[in-house]
Amino acid sequence: MLTSPGRVRYFPACLLVKVCTFKSEDSHKLTMVLNPVISKLSGKLVVLASASPRRLEILTNVGMRFEVVPSWFKENLDKALFKKPYEYAVETAKQKALEVAKRMPFKHLKTPDIVIGADTIVTVGGLILEKPVDKQDAYRILSRLNGKEHSVYTGVAIILCHEKEDQEIEYKVVDFYEETKVKFADLSEEMLWEYIHSGEPMDKAGGYGIQALGGMLVEHVQGDFLNVVGFPLNHFCKELDKIFNSPSSDTADRRCTLAAEGMAGEIPEDHSSAVRKRNVAQCGSRDRFEFPHRIADLLDGFKASKALFTACKLKVFDLLASAEYLSATQVAGNISGSLMGTERLLDAVVSLGLLEKLKLGDTIAYRNTEQTSRYLVSTSELALNEYILYCDERVWPLFTHLEQSVLEGVSQHDHAFGKRCEEPSKHACCNHREKQLQFMKAMHSMAKVAGSHVATAFDLSSFRTACDLGGCTGAMAFAFSKVHPALSVIVFDLPAVVEMCAHFHPRGQDLSRVTFVAGDFFSDDLPKADLYILARILHHLPAEKVHALLSKLSEICKPGCGVLLSEIFLDEGTRGQSSGILQALTMTQGVQRSAAEYSLLLQKYGFTQVSIKHTGNFLDAILGVKP
Ligand SMILES: *[C@@H]1O[C@H](CO)[C@@H](O)[C@H](O)[C@H]1NC(C)=O
Repeated sequence: MLTSPGRVRYFPACLLVKVCTFKSEDSHKLTMVLNPVISKLSGKLVVLASASPRRLEILTNVGMRFEVVPSWFKENLDKALFKKPYEYAVETAKQKALEVAKRMPFKHLKTPDIVIGADTIVTVGGLILEKPVDKQDAYRILSRLNGKEHSVYTGVAIILCHEKEDQEIEYKVVDFYEETKVKFADLSEEMLWEYIHSGEPMDKAGGYGIQALGGMLVEHVQGDFLNVVGFPLNHFCKELDKIFNSPSSDTADRRCTLAAEGMAGEIPEDHSSAVRKRNVAQCGSRDRFEFPHRIADLLDGFKASKALFTACKLKVFDLLASAEYLSATQVAGNISGSLMGTERLLDAVVSLGLLEKLKLGDTIAYRNTEQTSRYLVSTSELALNEYILYCDERVWPLFTHLEQSVLEGVSQHDHAFGKRCEEPSKHACCNHREKQLQFMKAMHSMAKVAGSHVATAFDLSSFRTACDLGGCTGAMAFAFSKVHPALSVIVFDLPAVVEMCAHFHPRGQDLSRVTFVAGDFFSDDLPKADLYILARILHHLPAEKVHALLSKLSEICKPGCGVLLSEIFLDEGTRGQSSGILQALTMTQGVQRSAAEYSLLLQKYGFTQVSIKHTGNFLDAILGVKP
C-alpha cells in the first residue's frame, strides 16, 4: 500500500556509513548478561574488516558494537606458498585486517582499538575452492562437494592497535583458525542446478550458504556451525577472553602503562597490581584515552550521509562504472562540476570507503569499490540509488525540522514540503504521480536488497498461495516466488499503485506465479491465500487500523494458514534497534515494536505458532501460523 512516508524505513544519516551504532547502555546490559567477554569491548572502537553480511549478523546478534570498514586487500595470496590450507585463510584474514588498521588513521582520521579480519575457505582433497565466478563455475565447485565430506576453515585475525606516546601505532596480531567438517548429501543434477539458479552460490566460498537454501544440501556438520556460516564465534570469544582476562595481557592496562611510562615493550611479568593501578589512574585522566569516538562519529554522520547522497545524485558512481577508472578532471567534466568541488567530493567518498583512489604515474584516478559497484550503480540488480535519492529528497528535509517535530509531537511534513494535498488520508506524500513513482522506486530498491533474506527466513513449503498486502511494486513477491518454486504470490495494493507496477517487473525471471490485484485492504475483500505477507505495513498504522487488519486476517485464515510480517525489530543488539528508534522520530501515527511485541500481537489474533528471524538486512521477519 502506498502510504508514504510512514512506511519508509528510514536509514538515518549516521547509519548509512556506520552499520552499527547502538546505545551503549542497552548493549552493555545485554552483553553483561550473555557474554562478559564481549562487554570488555565496550567503549573501544572495534572494526570489522569484512563486508560479509553473515559475519556482521553473527557479531551483531551477540550484542557486539562495531563499525564495518571493508578491507581493500585483494584476496590474491599465492596458495602454493602455504603448506596447509588454513595457513592461507589465516594469512588472508591478517592481511585484510592490517590493511584496514593501517588505512583508518589516514582515511578515517581515527585509530581503531581492535580490528577483526576473517577469511573462510572450503577445501576438498587438499584443494581450496573459491567463490564461483559464474554459474558453470558454481556447478564445477558444487559437483566436487556432492556426496562427500569437506572442510570449512575460517582464519581469524584480531589486530590490537596501540597508539604510542609519539603517535606511532603499534600492532599486535592474535590469529587462529577453526575447522568444521561438512558432509553433503548425494544430490541430483537437477537439484544442483536449481540451487545454482537461486543465485545463492555466487558470493560464497565453496559455492553454498549453509544458513539459507544451502542448508538443504547438507547431511551433517561436525564442529562449529557458525564457522561454516563465516565466523567461529565460540573460538573468537575464547581468544578475546585470553586477551582481556589474563592479567599480564590486559590491553587497557598495558596501554596505560605504556603511556604513563613512555615505554614501548611488554609489561614485565612481575609488574605488581598496585603499580599498575596507579598507572591506570594516571592515564585515566589523559584525554587521549577518553576520546568520545561515538560522539565524534555522530557529529560527522550527517556530512557523510550527505556526501553519499550527493555523489549518488550527481551519478558519480554510474559514471565511474562506465570506465576502469577516471581522474577528477574527467569526472568534473562529465557532471559539469567545478574541479575543486568534484575533487573534494571524490576524496570524501574515498574516505568513506566507497571509492578507491589510485596513483597511476602522475595521475590520480578514482574507481568504484566492489560494494559500490553492487549497491550504488543504478543499473545493478541490487542498486540502492533510488532509496538513497529518496532519503535525500524526502527524509533529509523532515529531519532538518526535527526540533519542531519533538516540540509539537507531529510530523513536519507540511513544513518540509509545503501544504498537504486534497486527500491527506490516502497519501501523506501527495498524490502526484511523480512523487508516487519516486516513492515506489525507493521502496522497490530496498525491498530487492532485503527480499531474498526475508523470503528465505522460514520454511514455507506448506504454503501454496501467498498474498502480499500492500506489496507495492512486487519486489518482495518476486523474491518469494524466486526462492519458493511451488508458491504463487498475489500482490494486493491500491489501484494507483498496481497501475504503475509494470515498470518494475524483473527481467529474466519467470513472472507467471506473481499476479497483481487492485484494492484497498481495509475496505475490500482480500484475495484467498494460505499465507499473508505484510512487509513494512504495521509499523506505520495507528493501533485501531492494526486491529482492523489483523482481525480481518484472523477471520479469513483457516488452521494452517499464516501471516508473515517483515519489519525492523526494535531488539537490543540488532541493527534494527537504533534504526527503528530513529525512524520513529518522524512522528507518524504508527508504533515501532520488538520481535517479542510483534509475536504477542500475532498470538492475540490466533497466529500462535510464531517463528522469528533477525536477518541482518534492512528488514527482519516473523511468521505466525494458526494451529
Ligand atoms: C558522462 O558519462 C556518461 C557515461 O559514460 C555518458 O553517457 C554521458 O554522455 C557523459 N556526459 C557528459 C556531459 O560528458
